[in-house]
Amino acid sequence: MKIILPLLALFIKSALSANILVVAPLPSPSHYIWNSALAYGLVNKNHNVTVVTSDKDDSPRPKNLHHILLEGTYEFMHENEEMNINEMFGSNPIHTLIEMQSMPDFFCEIFLKPKSFQNLLDYPKDFKFDLIIIDVTMGSCFYPLIHRFHYPPTIAVTPFLLPSYVAYNFGNQVNPSYLPWHSLPYTGEMTFMERVSNFLLVYVEVGLRYVHQYRQEHKVARKYFGEDIPSMVELERHMSLILTNSDPVLDFPQPLAPNFIPVGGLHTRKAKKLPDDLQNLVDGAKNGVIVFSLGSNIRSDKLDENVQQILLSAFSKIPETVVWKFESEIKDLPKNVIVRKWLPQNDLLGHPNVKLFIGHGGALSTQEAIFHGVPMICVPFFMDQFLNTQNVVTKKMGLELSIRNATSEDVYRTIREVLDNPIYSENMKKTSNRFKDRMETPLERGVFWAEYVIRHGGADFLNTPARDLPLYKASGLDVLVFISLVVVLFFIVVLKIVKLLKKLRRKKKVKTN
Ligand SMILES: *[C@@H]1O[C@H](CO)[C@@H](O)[C@H](O)[C@H]1NC(C)=O
Ligand SMILES: *[C@@H]1O[C@H](CO)[C@@H](O)[C@H](O)[C@H]1NC(C)=O
Repeated sequence: MKIILPLLALFIKSALSANILVVAPLPSPSHYIWNSALAYGLVNKNHNVTVVTSDKDDSPRPKNLHHILLEGTYEFMHENEEMNINEMFGSNPIHTLIEMQSMPDFFCEIFLKPKSFQNLLDYPKDFKFDLIIIDVTMGSCFYPLIHRFHYPPTIAVTPFLLPSYVAYNFGNQVNPSYLPWHSLPYTGEMTFMERVSNFLLVYVEVGLRYVHQYRQEHKVARKYFGEDIPSMVELERHMSLILTNSDPVLDFPQPLAPNFIPVGGLHTRKAKKLPDDLQNLVDGAKNGVIVFSLGSNIRSDKLDENVQQILLSAFSKIPETVVWKFESEIKDLPKNVIVRKWLPQNDLLGHPNVKLFIGHGGALSTQEAIFHGVPMICVPFFMDQFLNTQNVVTKKMGLELSIRNATSEDVYRTIREVLDNPIYSENMKKTSNRFKDRMETPLERGVFWAEYVIRHGGADFLNTPARDLPLYKASGLDVLVFISLVVVLFFIVVLKIVKLLKKLRRKKKVKTN
C-alpha cells in the first residue's frame, strides 16, 4: 500500500499533464525572463512545455521543459544597425509608432527561417498540443501555428504591460480619455491637447495593425506555413484569453473584460542568496547600497563618456556603496563604486541593505523594485519606460532624472533627496504591501487560467460582444451620430414651421387690412 499510493498519485498526475507550446520569440531578455517564469510555473505542475525563443539558455533544464531556439535573431539585431534597440527608439512617440510598425516586417523573416523552427513545422501531421501560448508582442507572425496544430485552445500573453492595441484586439473597451498610450509620459489625468494626441496615437496604431502589419506578416508567413492559412485576424480571434503584465496596484487601475487576466509582476519572487563576492560586499556595506542598472537592452557602457564621468563624480561624493551594471572596463572608479557586467537584480533588490534602485523604468525592473519596496530614480530612454516613470513619480515612490543633460550636482541632489526623504521609501513599501496582499501570486493565477482554458477547451464564453463589433458600434458612435441627426432634424423642422407660421400670420394681416 505504501508503494502503491504514491505510484497511483504519480500516475494520476502524469495522466493529467498537458502538452503545451509557448511561443515567445522577441529577442529581449526581459521578455524571456517573464515568459520563462510562466513556463516554469507550468513545468512545475508537471506539464510538458516546449518554448520557442530567441534566448539561448544553457542552465540545466528539467526533463519536461524543451527549447526550440530561433538561432540568429540576436545576431541579426546586433549586425543590423537599424535594428539596434538602443538607437531605434527615442522619446518621439510618432517615431516609436513607425518603428513598431516596421519591426515585424524585419522580424517575421528572421523568426520563421531557422531550421529549428522548420523542425517544429515538421512534427507529425497529427501531433497534438493541448494548449498554445503566444506572446503577442511581435509574435503575430506565429499565429498560423494555431492552424498547423489544428486549433487547440490558445491563449495570448503580453509582458509589455497592456498596450491599447492588444486591449482592442481582444475586445476590451479602449479609453484614450484616461488610459495613456504605451509610450507616452502621461498618467490618467491629461490636458485636453494631451487627450487629443493620445486619442490619435491609440487609434492610428489600432488601425495600422489591420491595414499594414497583419498583411505584411501574412505575406511572409504564407511562404513558411503554406498558401492556405487564414488571415491573422481570424487566427487571433481563436485566442480566447489573454494574460497581461498589468496590475491595478503596480500600474494604473483600468476596467478589464473577463477574458483579460491581469498577472502583473508574474516574474517577481523572493530574493535568493547572492553569489559569495556580492553577498559579502552587500552584507558589509554599512552605509547602505545603491543598485544601478539600465536593464537588459540598454548598455551603461554606451552612455556618453562625459555622462559616465558626471555619474561617477556624483557617486564619489556619497557614503553609500554603488553596485553598477556596467558591461565593460571603466577607469578611475571611486572607492565606493563596484561594477559588474551582469547583476542578479532581483536578489540584490531583496537585500535589506539596498536603499535605492537607479534604473531605466523598464516594466519588469519597476515591478521588481515595487515588490521589494525599494525607492527608485528612473532614467527613461524609450517606449513604456516613460509611462512607468510617470507611475513612480506620481505615486511619489521615486524621482525622474534626465541623465542626458543633468549635472553632477543634479545627480547628487536627486540621490540625496530619495535617500534622505523617507516619503519615497514609505510609499514604495505601502505599494509593495498592497501588491503582496492577495489570494494568490500572479504566477499561480496565470497557471490556473492556462489550465482552466485546457479544461474547458478555450474560454470564448468570457469574451464580450465588443470583440466582434466594429469600433463604431462598440463605442456607440453610430447611435450618437443618429441621435445628433434626429435632434438637428427636429430643430430644422421646428424652425421651418415657425417661419411658415410667421409668414401665414403676415399674409392674414395683409388680407384683414
Ligand atoms: C513533449 O515535448 C517534446 C518537444 O516538443 C515532444 O517531442 C514530446 O513528444 C512531448 N511529449 C509528450 C508526452 O507529448
Ligand atoms: C533636461 O531637459 C529636460 C527636457 O528635455 C528638462 O525638463 C529638464 O529640466 C532638464 N534638466 C536639467 C537638469 O537641466
